[in-house]
Amino acid sequence: MNWLENRTDDDKVKQNEVLAIGNLPKHVAIIMDGNGRWAQQRTMPRLSGHKQGVETVRDIVKASSQLGVKYLTLYAFSMENWKRPQKEVSGLMKLLEFYLKNEVEELHANNVRIRSIGKLNALPKPVHKILQKAIDHTEKNDGLTLTLALSYSSRWDIVRATQMISLDVRRGKLSPEDITEETFTDYLLTKDMPDPDLLIRTSGEMRISNFLLWELAYSEIYVTKKCWPDFERNDLYEAISCFAKRERRFGLTSAQLIDQSNSSSYLQRVVNAITNR
Ligand code: FPP
Repeated sequence: MNWLENRTDDDKVKQNEVLAIGNLPKHVAIIMDGNGRWAQQRTMPRLSGHKQGVETVRDIVKASSQLGVKYLTLYAFSMENWKRPQKEVSGLMKLLEFYLKNEVEELHANNVRIRSIGKLNALPKPVHKILQKAIDHTEKNDGLTLTLALSYSSRWDIVRATQMISLDVRRGKLSPEDITEETFTDYLLTKDMPDPDLLIRTSGEMRISNFLLWELAYSEIYVTKKCWPDFERNDLYEAISCFAKRERRFGLTSAQLIDQSNSSSYLQRVVNAITNR
């Protein structure tokens, strides 16, 4: 199914309204929270919340791609999530396997590139295998890059990067004076993508929960009370519209931004330097 051709007239209007504001975020990252509460409120097992959450994932990926967002990063399973009851963990792994098996062709047909960050060899073998297959299959696509954070911990990634840097220093490939923010970024799993412009978190929690700690330094944060299974494409449009109207200062003052809007190349250089573009 071609996602661009399959939009309702109403949806086209809404998407055009979002695009008309301009300033579309290049990278949207989402902490998909509240699946358990959504299910509990309905006296359903927690896994039903995760199942409904997959439906939200499907539509939000589609809507992001239709809008022209270049990077969407979803926090699907944290390293800490392994400590959840075994039944919930294995249910989530099955859902992930099911999603990848069933969606990969449609994602591929719509030019989506699948990637993943996290300690992937901790995943059950069948999940790891199908994930790798999806990554390889969609590798050359240049539309939306969909990154699934799986068995992910940002502190773990930062420590891992530090270990790699130390090894390179020991081998004489790098000298300590050469370690800059840019070099450090190059050792993170997120090295090939720009920093998120917008972080969305559902279910009202005001935390970043060990997600992209380094990369979110200058991201705008949008929190909605809605639980992830209730989050709809209209909520995504609302979050993006809200982002687009904000003033991102990157440590400068409003007055400096106004002064420099005449010399936009300067501001663009500041933004590029900070957001790793
Ligand atoms: C947080 O809700 C959500 C998760 C830990 C898992 C997210 C997974 C999915 C949405 C489905 C699988 C993903 C993909 C990409 C197919 P919670 O369980 O912590 O909710 P609670 O805080 O209300 O208990």
